[in-house]
Amino acid sequence: MNSVRAFAPATVANVSCGFDILGFAIDAMGDVVEVRERNEPGLQVVSITGDGGRLPFEAEKNTCAVAIQAMLDELGQDIGMEIYLEKGLPLGSGMGSSAASAVAALVAANRLLGNPFEKKQLLPFAMVAEKVACGAGHADNVAPSLLGGFVLIRDYHPLDVIKLHVPDGLHCTLLHPHFELKTSDSRSVLRDSVSLKHSTIQSGNVAGLVAGLFQEDFELIGRSLRDVIAEPYRATLIPGFYEVKEAVKAAGALGMGISGSGPTLFSLSKGEQTVQSIIDAAQQVYDSIGLGVDAYHSAINTQGAFVLE
Ligand code: HSE
Repeated sequence: MNSVRAFAPATVANVSCGFDILGFAIDAMGDVVEVRERNEPGLQVVSITGDGGRLPFEAEKNTCAVAIQAMLDELGQDIGMEIYLEKGLPLGSGMGSSAASAVAALVAANRLLGNPFEKKQLLPFAMVAEKVACGAGHADNVAPSLLGGFVLIRDYHPLDVIKLHVPDGLHCTLLHPHFELKTSDSRSVLRDSVSLKHSTIQSGNVAGLVAGLFQEDFELIGRSLRDVIAEPYRATLIPGFYEVKEAVKAAGALGMGISGSGPTLFSLSKGEQTVQSIIDAAQQVYDSIGLGVDAYHSAINTQGAFVLE
């Protein structure tokens, strides 16, 4: 085998109450990376499509190359590889675009090398790439993109990643307004400290969300989609945020929040029946403020990244 292609799905990080510790993968979209053996040492990004010419080719800046390099450093091997990236995800959207690229690259490179690592062991390498891409080595996009499903990062030091139960029929609608928000900018508006009161509210909701997933209690899932830590600051960067939230909840969504660092908004629903009403309700708000929006909907992806045979 001298070339491998892999797919990694888009993700919704934070899931409202779980800043940097919760995320899930979605079926609708993702990135594909092909990795080929190269005769000389070193990583070379050969082609990138679907990014409008905006992503860097330099190995030390490209998330695919950074992730693979971290893996090769751990192996202590100086192997050459060519990288071909096919972006399926919009940049700066909050749908885990940089994470999907890094994860697809790692899964492809790992297979090319004969799978020296188990899937979960690839996570720290993907986190190195996240740090380069957005200044923070958070795992709440890379972990669900790699592993699929709903994932909890119980701790970062040492990394403790827990897969959660995904109730049958849990459905996600994504609303991607036509503007970009860099994760680094969206993190810069956050505060360093959290009050005891807000910490209590946030912990209650994280616990409620996890319990709701395991108990398949959709109402509990919905009322746990509350974020008093990041959302109040980030909402100021996202036009129409509160209006869209009110409209989609009235249209039948269990709840709504910012997908990762935004500007995409996610809502969860039980089944697909309310999806079109949710999209129509959001569309009306975006029309009223003159902002274009793309809507996607999908079941929760439970497989995560995989090699394309
Ligand atoms: N947890 C990260 C953040 C996700 O909110 O900044 C970025 O997609």
